[in-house]
Amino acid sequence: MVSTEAAVVIESSVPSPVAASVAAAAVAVAVEVEAIKTTESMLTNLDLETVSVLDFDKGDPTMYEAYWKSIGEDFEITISASQALSYFANPKSFCWFMLPKLEQEIRNLHNLVGNAVVEGRHIAVGNGSSQLIQAALYALAEPLDPPSPISVVSAAPFYSCYPQIADYVRSGLFKWAGDAHAYVKDTPYIEMVTSPNNPDGELRGPVVNKANGMLVHDLAYYWPQYTAITEPVDHDIMLFTVSKCTGHAGSRIGWAIVKDPDVAKRMVKFMEISTIGVSKEAQLRAISILEMISTNSCPSNFFEFGQSVMAERWKKLREALKGTDVLQVPDFPPQHCNFKRDYNECHPAYAWMKAQEGLNLEEVMKEESIRVRGGGTFGCPSNYARLSMLGRDKDVDLLLKRLPSILKRLAH
Ligand SMILES: Cc1ncc(COP(=O)(O)O)c(C=O)c1O
Repeated sequence: MVSTEAAVVIESSVPSPVAASVAAAAVAVAVEVEAIKTTESMLTNLDLETVSVLDFDKGDPTMYEAYWKSIGEDFEITISASQALSYFANPKSFCWFMLPKLEQEIRNLHNLVGNAVVEGRHIAVGNGSSQLIQAALYALAEPLDPPSPISVVSAAPFYSCYPQIADYVRSGLFKWAGDAHAYVKDTPYIEMVTSPNNPDGELRGPVVNKANGMLVHDLAYYWPQYTAITEPVDHDIMLFTVSKCTGHAGSRIGWAIVKDPDVAKRMVKFMEISTIGVSKEAQLRAISILEMISTNSCPSNFFEFGQSVMAERWKKLREALKGTDVLQVPDFPPQHCNFKRDYNECHPAYAWMKAQEGLNLEEVMKEESIRVRGGGTFGCPSNYARLSMLGRDKDVDLLLKRLPSILKRLAH
């Protein structure tokens, strides 16, 4: 099994060159989707009739389906066969494959939410923020023409895909160097700063803070349904994605907000070489969805929906864990949210769970037919694990029913 966000399962009987190429496809995708194996087929020693495996491993944002279903068919988009044939969208722009209307809608949304400075900044669209992470690493490292690969670090617990993204193609420009807290060298480095952090939900800043450091801010979860919007952030490179903002992970649309025009151009060059741009169909869909949210032209407010679902889930989880210390999740003090104009409880996309030292929490959960992602993939001990809060209601309800027996297991 390849340990990636894509969670593609590779049979051990596949000859190794084939396995390597299948692994290549799996890791290149590097997203929170299950590509091949069904939950049923993972039931090895379980009674298929009675126990189903619940997947809380991937951050697949299916909780948003309920909202978009409620919008109905009023907002369907149709793309005719004669539309969007060209590679080009805006030949005058440095990001020549981005539809001008998408750039406008991205700016509108940030101005509405107040989570990022867009005025005077360069915006580039990518195939999800996964591609933009690679583009940013390339754009920062390339001009240095480093004699050996530049270190890429992030503070543990870090997003489990960073090591794979940095190392997969064995670039001569950069390589994964692990936990930023342990970085002691004086050579140039790139620090990935994830805020709110995946997996633990913390609002974060850089930790290395050396003069020759370059920062990439991954702000996939800096939206009001997950956290308080405390300020419009204004960093050199900021990455966002519809995957975690609107739930449209399948559209593969992310964007970068970049201060330095040369860095922005090199990021676009990376995307030009790797995919010659980004699907126009996906951009058109993103345009209509972002516009709906910014103009609040949906029957109910999108962010209110997200906030209430997340708040309810966290409330139920905390209630289920009340009075026990065998399984702990972090607390988040309310903070003033400029978007809500009120104090906001934070309800992160993941519950970062901690069990007693020495336990393997992922394994314990697996014994109760719950898949979570173990601490090791985030650079932490195995008594930690990440539980996705982004799935469907029915699975969350089933999880809550199984929690008492998990707690019993953890107590023994
Ligand atoms: C912190 C973080 N960055 C980036 C991504 C990738 O998102 P995308 O679907 O836009 O590639 C994810 C997905 O889970 C994430 O959690």
